[in-house]
Amino acid sequence: MPWPCSRPVKHRFVTLLATLCITAAFSACALAQSAILEGERFHPEVGEHGMVATSHYLASQIAHDVLADGGNAVDAAVTAGFALAVTQPRSGNIGGGGFMLISDEKSGKVIAIDYREKAPSKAYETMFQDEDGNAVPELSRYTHNASGVPGTVAGLALALDKYGTLSLAEALAPAIKLADEGFVIPPRFAEGIRDARERLEKWDSTRKVFFKPDGSLYRAGERFRQPDLAATLKRIAEHGPREFYEGETAKLIVAEMHKHDALMSAEDLASYQPTIREPVHGTYRGYDVYAMSPPSSGGAHIVQMLNILEGYDIGAMGFNSARTIHVMSEAMKRAYADRAEYLGDTDFIDVPLEGITSKAYADELRSQIDLDRATPSSEIAAGNPLPYESNETTHFSIADDSGLAVSNTYTINFSYGSGIVVDGAGFLLNNEMDDFSAKPGTPNAYGLIGGEANKIEPEKRMLSSMTPTIVKKDGKNFLITGSPGGSRIITTTLQVVMNVIDHGMNIQSAVSAPRIHDQWLPDEIRIEDGISPDTVALLEAMGHKVSRQEAMGAAQSILIGDDGTFTGGADPRRSTSSAMGL
Ligand code: DON
Repeated sequence: MPWPCSRPVKHRFVTLLATLCITAAFSACALAQSAILEGERFHPEVGEHGMVATSHYLASQIAHDVLADGGNAVDAAVTAGFALAVTQPRSGNIGGGGFMLISDEKSGKVIAIDYREKAPSKAYETMFQDEDGNAVPELSRYTHNASGVPGTVAGLALALDKYGTLSLAEALAPAIKLADEGFVIPPRFAEGIRDARERLEKWDSTRKVFFKPDGSLYRAGERFRQPDLAATLKRIAEHGPREFYEGETAKLIVAEMHKHDALMSAEDLASYQPTIREPVHGTYRGYDVYAMSPPSSGGAHIVQMLNILEGYDIGAMGFNSARTIHVMSEAMKRAYADRAEYLGDTDFIDVPLEGITSKAYADELRSQIDLDRATPSSEIAAGNPLPYESNETTHFSIADDSGLAVSNTYTINFSYGSGIVVDGAGFLLNNEMDDFSAKPGTPNAYGLIGGEANKIEPEKRMLSSMTPTIVKKDGKNFLITGSPGGSRIITTTLQVVMNVIDHGMNIQSAVSAPRIHDQWLPDEIRIEDGISPDTVALLEAMGHKVSRQEAMGAAQSILIGDDGTFTGGADPRRSTSSAMGL
């Protein structure tokens, strides 16, 4: 067990019990035993009836309990989504937005709920530029105008309404309790606030929530309560999701905006609606891959990269060998070049999705790849289909034994979003407007270039990289995955899929294995620790620039075996990650 200390005590106890059961050869444990792979370095969590994997053990415990009490995967996902807004306010949220994929094996349908934030109706193309037409990052990241109209409350409520069995009040109850009574601060929480201190303490409303009354920092082990957030969640539980958009909470948001001369209005909130979309669908070596459609670029480009890579015998080429990394990097560069040119909100522009995800287009792109030489990014432009900084989003995966699976990624963009708490409402506002191109050709915070397709327009959704993904095998839910990580989300998710399908890894190994990333510009392969110097030397000899950087992503994932066994992989890159089976 690689990271036992990150698991809740109860969970370790459950694991211990499972081990004892196996030793005693109790028949009830036989199924679970079949998935424990002795001799492997990383061991997933095992469940017979379901699995949850989130980035915070309290949210995992809560979602686990919902399943154990007879709720389904959507009930557990929505409850976890609200719980994370309390336990992990750096990314769990009600002031942001995201995407949820739901696969219902019984009907064979996979749907995508788009609850991405929208630009306010008074937003305009040059709103983050100075008089000389230069993009001003400070404006699109750390001001009230940096916030898009939040979608999380409406999106989670829609999911529950369509597929859940709990009432919204029931799904909110654990979050309200956590906000009211507080929870013991883990080290990661205390460190997160310390690291973002300068940005957070400049706003009175934020200081009131995240710092002690004397302005000092909370320490790990202390209790953290959020009375204003508890009151907001209670209002939503009592009056329903529209409370956030039209009730007292909306009034508090509008007052906050008004006080700072920002554009978001009462009408923007009142008119916000989430949307149900068709996910992008592709195939990879006989598996069906479903992932998020625009306004996320995730689905289009994970399918595009898989199509390119399908032409190579990746399994035989070997996990993270120089040759494998080379072709992955070449596929990634081409996909990200297309992203910059073509991707945006399909409610506003035409995205050539069919072309980008077609096998024939992938054949053409693959034919440009030289197996011995890196193509410099300057030689790659978008085809014709007809900086990394500290940041945070959060992904969770949940599956039950009724055939429902949920893959959800949601965010307020940076860690703690804009850093601005809505005074009296206790939650942070996102800074998602930075995901638009503030000026065509100018990179956003993740170094991603955007063009006309992603320019700011009133009520448009900003382009995302979030890639909640569900892979099915012979019509059955097989792999549920996704990740935070800004521009690295798509490539992180890609590698979990490849690690399982090409390299036959169990889900914990697939999630833990070292990752690489290439996003066309800057022209470099970014690698985590764990890629050998010999491999780096071979890549450099092919003409790649290789840069070793911090860990990427946090891909809380679930794999469902042919015998129905659930295995969960909690990503060790977040110390609070936890997978729990039942
Ligand atoms: O939607 C997007 O692509 C970004 N706003 C996501 C930000 C993110 O993942 C931050 N990271 N860890």
